[in-house]
Amino acid sequence: MRKKVIAGNWKMNMLPNEAISFIEQIAPLVKNTKNEIILCVPYTDLFYSLLTAQNTNIKIGAQNMHWEEKGAYTGEVSGQMLKSIGTQYVIIGHSERRQYFAETDETVNKKIKSALLNELNPIICVGETLEQRELGKAEEIITKQTELALEGLTKEQMKKVILAYEPIWAIGTGKTATSEDANNSIKAIRKKISELYGKDTANETIILYGGSVKAENAKELFSTSDIDGGLVGGASLKVDEFSKIILAV
Ligand code: PGA
Repeated sequence: MRKKVIAGNWKMNMLPNEAISFIEQIAPLVKNTKNEIILCVPYTDLFYSLLTAQNTNIKIGAQNMHWEEKGAYTGEVSGQMLKSIGTQYVIIGHSERRQYFAETDETVNKKIKSALLNELNPIICVGETLEQRELGKAEEIITKQTELALEGLTKEQMKKVILAYEPIWAIGTGKTATSEDANNSIKAIRKKISELYGKDTANETIILYGGSVKAENAKELFSTSDIDGGLVGGASLKVDEFSKIILAV
């Protein structure tokens, strides 16, 4: 049985004092869940969040990283730096990074490899645009993105990897994929992993759904056969809403 993972993606929101107060408020509400809870916070909140989340069941992640360890890359943060303060997770290849910051399948793959070398667990995002979906190409796009993201990873490294299927048309739009559509897309990703690494690895890999997950639709989405939890944007910014999502299953 795969565990459920609920990951919040705060994007470019929350100042350190807000992050501290959020974690202090939500921790007692979710302390008894068996689900894994991850909060992916802005770089400036990482240290405060890690300290506040100590002795709770909340894990802390970043939202991006550079693939090099160090060097002349003004403004970038490396996996080694994230690890040095105790960060455990890092989102890689979010569609907003692909769209606004020119991330490619190749840089996504380099970042994943560097994250794993630094003992960070990557949360790898894949997803199709509305146009691609309407052309009937969704499955082809997401399985290709998956293959390119995972290129060169060993079976052993796959144990550290979380994938997130996030249809771009559903992110921040209030439009959620139906639980059936999302489940089918995730099944297609799992099938690709099975082709690449075998059935056991495919069955063990955690694959999340992301795109307008709310307290209202979380239970239905997370109760399907292949959706192992959610990557939650907007709804992870409110204690009440996010705790309900964590406790939905
Ligand atoms: P959303 O964002 O929940 O606000 O749609 C999800 C994401 O971008 O990870």
